[in-house]
Amino acid sequence: MELQEVLRRRRMTRNFTREPVAAEDVDAIVANARRAPSAGNTRATEFLVLHGPGATQRFWDATLPTSKRGDFPWPGLLEAPVLIVFLANETAYRERYAEPDKGVTDQADFWPVPYWYVDAGFAAMLAQLTALDRGLGCLFFGIFPPRLAAFREAFGVPDAYVPVGAVAVGHPAAVQRRSRSLDRSGASFEDVVHRGSW
Ligand SMILES: Cc1cc2nc3c(=O)[nH]c(=O)nc-3n(C[C@H](O)[C@H](O)[C@H](O)COP(=O)(O)O)c2cc1C
Repeated sequence: MELQEVLRRRRMTRNFTREPVAAEDVDAIVANARRAPSAGNTRATEFLVLHGPGATQRFWDATLPTSKRGDFPWPGLLEAPVLIVFLANETAYRERYAEPDKGVTDQADFWPVPYWYVDAGFAAMLAQLTALDRGLGCLFFGIFPPRLAAFREAFGVPDAYVPVGAVAVGHPAAVQRRSRSLDRSGASFEDVVHRGSW
């Protein structure tokens, strides 16, 4: 698919069928995620790949307690056969930027924003575009603080790694319920684009 076509069609999918996703697709998605630009070429984003109902079930058991499932607005999200969690490692960036070619020893106020999160976000975006290019649907979503410890424990994720988000991948179900977020009209192009000065 042409990039412009992928971008034109890009919408989050929150209702998936149980149709499996080929290992080849999962590998391509992660391989492309690794092609993302990386601050200082640190390349420290890591990926927890959960493929198949056994693995994804363990994720949902840790992050969405059964007591809360009745109210969960997106039950079809739990059918996604693939979940990829993007993990940032701040320490790796601090070490990389302390290397001689960077030489950033006083790191207190060095980064304009935490680049380890930026890199993980870029990687997650390339993963989503690759999924869409392969005719699959996807959703980027967060793992929220109250479930973080359970998530870490379920998958043995060390404290040094922060899950910036997860991308669910699968075949979109025929009917997608609209997210209420889409009811926001949002700012116009001219509202947010400042040409020449603010
Ligand atoms: C950083 C980030 C976090 C998000 N977290 C969630 C989430 O936890 N649950 C969810 O359903 N959608 C989540 N979304 C998806 C947004 O709601 C969605 O992108 C937005 O409503 C626009 O819809 P569209 O992507 O289909 O155009 C997230 C998106 C981003 C960029």
